[in-house]
Amino acid sequence: MRHFVIVGILVIIMAALTYAGLNSAGLMPIEASAQAVSIDSLWNYELIAMSFLFALIVVPIIYSLVIFRRKKGETGDGEHIEGNTRLEIAWTVIPLFMVIGLAYMGAYSLGEVRRVDPNAMVVKVTASQWQWKFEYPDSGVISTELRLPVNRQVVLKMESLDVIHSFWVPEFRLKQDIVPGRVTEYRVTPSLVGNYKVRCSEICGTSHAYMESPVIVVSQADFDGWIAEQQAFTAANQTPEGKGQALVSANGCAACHSVNGAVGVGPTWQGLFGSTVELEVGSSVTADEAYLTESLKDPKAKVVKGFQPTMPIYPFTDEEIANIVAYIKTLK
Ligand code: CUA
Repeated sequence: MRHFVIVGILVIIMAALTYAGLNSAGLMPIEASAQAVSIDSLWNYELIAMSFLFALIVVPIIYSLVIFRRKKGETGDGEHIEGNTRLEIAWTVIPLFMVIGLAYMGAYSLGEVRRVDPNAMVVKVTASQWQWKFEYPDSGVISTELRLPVNRQVVLKMESLDVIHSFWVPEFRLKQDIVPGRVTEYRVTPSLVGNYKVRCSEICGTSHAYMESPVIVVSQADFDGWIAEQQAFTAANQTPEGKGQALVSANGCAACHSVNGAVGVGPTWQGLFGSTVELEVGSSVTADEAYLTESLKDPKAKVVKGFQPTMPIYPFTDEEIANIVAYIKTLK
């Protein structure tokens, strides 16, 4: 009996020390979502159980090794023990109730984490090798970073364009695979303003390790401001000049035509509009809308002096050409 009391006390001390050690090791990143609270509380119970079981196994083993070791001159066999029904019932029934308890805690916590807020904000997430795209259907904003207002539930409707990816923000504690061909939901209520990162946590090819995007949690006011800013930016790109610039960058025009005065394979566009251009045939022409339009439709019609007629014909529509000309006009 004396041994049981001593071991019992040692187990409690050992469990407390183990728990304190694990707790101070900082195993978890900062807690940044409402859902993280119940997950972290589960994790805390798990640490307690782990520490206790560790002590329950290690302390009696070490105690027995030290106290019950064979004394000098002892040559007989150890005492023969044949079963113990009461002990066996105890170590079956107690863990049974413990597992039932764990199942209850797990189910309860799952319910908390999955709780649906009917006012949740919807964000469409598209994962592809190897990037994230975020769309805000309420405002039409499309972004490569996920910006969220604090303390408001967001439901991510996630789709993959190619293989299985997985959405994981460690600070939110939740992780969800994204499987091609179906829409997967992920609900989270960010609870702490700050900068985080979404990482892909399903190996998805060569650049899997680099598949991450900023997740920025801000106040509702800052979020509204950002949405307005993004909308204004998108609207600005809807002007003819904006569309023209987008066409220019989509078609790689900058490979030959600089916009800063540098001479490349083709003439620079800086200061081109309205200037007088000397042609290969000896005459000269004013770079007006008619000239630029003609040169975009038929690059070889009027070749500028000093350049080769190497520009291919691009299949631009008349409207696209007008947009590109409008963009060139802005390059003073
Ligand atoms: Cu996407 Cu790994």
